[in-house]
Amino acid sequence: MDTAGAQDISHGVNHVLRCLITVGPTREHFDPVRFLSNGSSGKMGYALAERAAKRGWQVTVVSGPVALPPPPGVTVTRVVSAGEMFQACEPLFMESDVFIAVAAVADYRPRSMAGEKLKKTGGPWRLDLVPTVDILKTLAARKRPGQIIVGFAAETHDLENTARRKLAEKNLDWIVANDVSRPNLGISADDNAVLLLGANGARLAFGPAAKVAVAEFILGNVVPPVRT
Ligand code: CTP
Repeated sequence: MDTAGAQDISHGVNHVLRCLITVGPTREHFDPVRFLSNGSSGKMGYALAERAAKRGWQVTVVSGPVALPPPPGVTVTRVVSAGEMFQACEPLFMESDVFIAVAAVADYRPRSMAGEKLKKTGGPWRLDLVPTVDILKTLAARKRPGQIIVGFAAETHDLENTARRKLAEKNLDWIVANDVSRPNLGISADDNAVLLLGANGARLAFGPAAKVAVAEFILGNVVPPVRT
């Protein structure tokens, strides 16, 4: 095990770094069998979890529905909806040194969920949608001194400006911007190309590369190795 950075007093902690990562899509049901969701595979989040555990960090993943096995040495809590993801993260966030929000959380959910499968009517259907909780923004507003908070921004246009706005608006230390309009990169792909922007003014581009390599790049920059 590579323990560089694990026992890390220079980042304001004198214990093994505790890292919380949200992963995958959420599902917002409107009846027991139907839901709104997106194509997030969880590959980027699980790659980060695996590499963080390899660094000797104590890693907890809160994962929406994905088909991936849990990475070795990582505690995984499975959830379905944005509301459940928030409830699972809230207590874990308080105890984490690093919070990385990779999940493609649904921004809206159906106002109500039918208890039984809805029957087709022949006419059009209308879904009344209400906003979900912004997990990252809500938790980042409670940031402790020394806590490191990393968000993701998956965009199809105006990547850098939008990512910078989210970095500031969500009170983040870092944001990982990725252009999801590029074929074979980003959501559900095996590779990714990212632009890492820091609240400290850092601007670092990486990739295209395998998501494991992208994970190493992100972790190495947001928690640099301790030099003794
Ligand atoms: N995020 C979150 N909870 C939400 C929505 C987003 O925690 N309800 C987090 C994501 O995990 C990601 C970051 O916020 O780290 C940005 O998500 P993104 O979907 O790109 O941005 P939004 O704020 O949802 O804005 P928009 O969809 O309008 O681009």
